[in-house]
Amino acid sequence: MKVLVIGAGNMGLAYAKALVKSEFLSNHNLMISDTSPEKTEELKKISRFDVYTNLSDCLPKADIIFIAVKPYHAEELFSELKPMMSPDQIVISIMAGVTIQSMKDGLGITKVVRAMPNLPAQVGKGLTSFTASDEVSRLELSTVENLLDTTGRSVRLDTENDVDASTGISGSGPAYVFYFMQSMMEAAQKMGFSDHDSKVLVGQTFEGAVELFNKSDLSPKEWMKRVASKGGTTRAALDSMEDNNINSLIEEAAHAAFNRAVELGKES
Ligand SMILES: NC(=O)c1ccc[n+]([C@@H]2O[C@H](COP(=O)([O-])OP(=O)(O)OC[C@H]3O[C@@H](n4cnc5c(N)ncnc54)[C@H](OP(=O)(O)O)[C@@H]3O)[C@@H](O)[C@H]2O)c1
Repeated sequence: MKVLVIGAGNMGLAYAKALVKSEFLSNHNLMISDTSPEKTEELKKISRFDVYTNLSDCLPKADIIFIAVKPYHAEELFSELKPMMSPDQIVISIMAGVTIQSMKDGLGITKVVRAMPNLPAQVGKGLTSFTASDEVSRLELSTVENLLDTTGRSVRLDTENDVDASTGISGSGPAYVFYFMQSMMEAAQKMGFSDHDSKVLVGQTFEGAVELFNKSDLSPKEWMKRVASKGGTTRAALDSMEDNNINSLIEEAAHAAFNRAVELGKES
């Protein structure tokens, strides 16, 4: 099996690096392509996989093609790829909002997967949600799943609407966590802590809480009960959050991302 990654940006490189590190693919079975000659020259010096600037040199050799360019490059890329595609090739797109139908139409093939990764894919802790066209067989789906799992974990969903919904949770979610971290760091700085100490206080608190959550069956609500005692400091903070309806504001934010994903899909 040969895999081609189109787009050597943040996400394309995250996948390429994870794929070669995995047991599923050897170095010589991974190709990566980017339009920027500076980027490809640099990559040729530092990477162990085959690097291309010209798609006609690598696309025909690929069984599975990851598309990791920005959505606004999709149309131009599709017209370049279409005459070279063959019906057996499987395309996995991670472009936000680019629908399965627009890929089928734009590329003239039927085996397409629409995936939504998130930023922690860059450190092997990503979550990729995905759904596939009916033409992708069960066996092919399990290969796709294995490839996506190399950057963390993947979840197969039934519909594209589910992928849009997951965009509001896991796709955009890391930014919500960073928002919360930023607010806590600003609070710490206002209390007089240095930038360095604020970062340590907040970073370690998040890491510890996430590890507790992942290593147990308790829900966040149950964990909150364990930290907060009646009349104590944590209860004071949680009461303040509840009085300010932080819960419904977060829910609203996630829905805003979901709605935007649906809108982007319609535009595509
Ligand atoms: N970053 C995230 O957290 C995240 C999460 C979920 C989904 N995504 C999706 O992942 C995709 C990639 O995002 P990114 O942050 O990795 O973008 P990026 O860093 O801009 O990388 C895209 C790369 O593709 C290159 N490119 C553009 N057109 C090309 C073509 N025709 N052939 C080959 N290479 C081409 C770009 O070159 P130039 O710079 O020269 O244009 C750039 O190097 C996006 O569609 C985004 O929606 C990203």
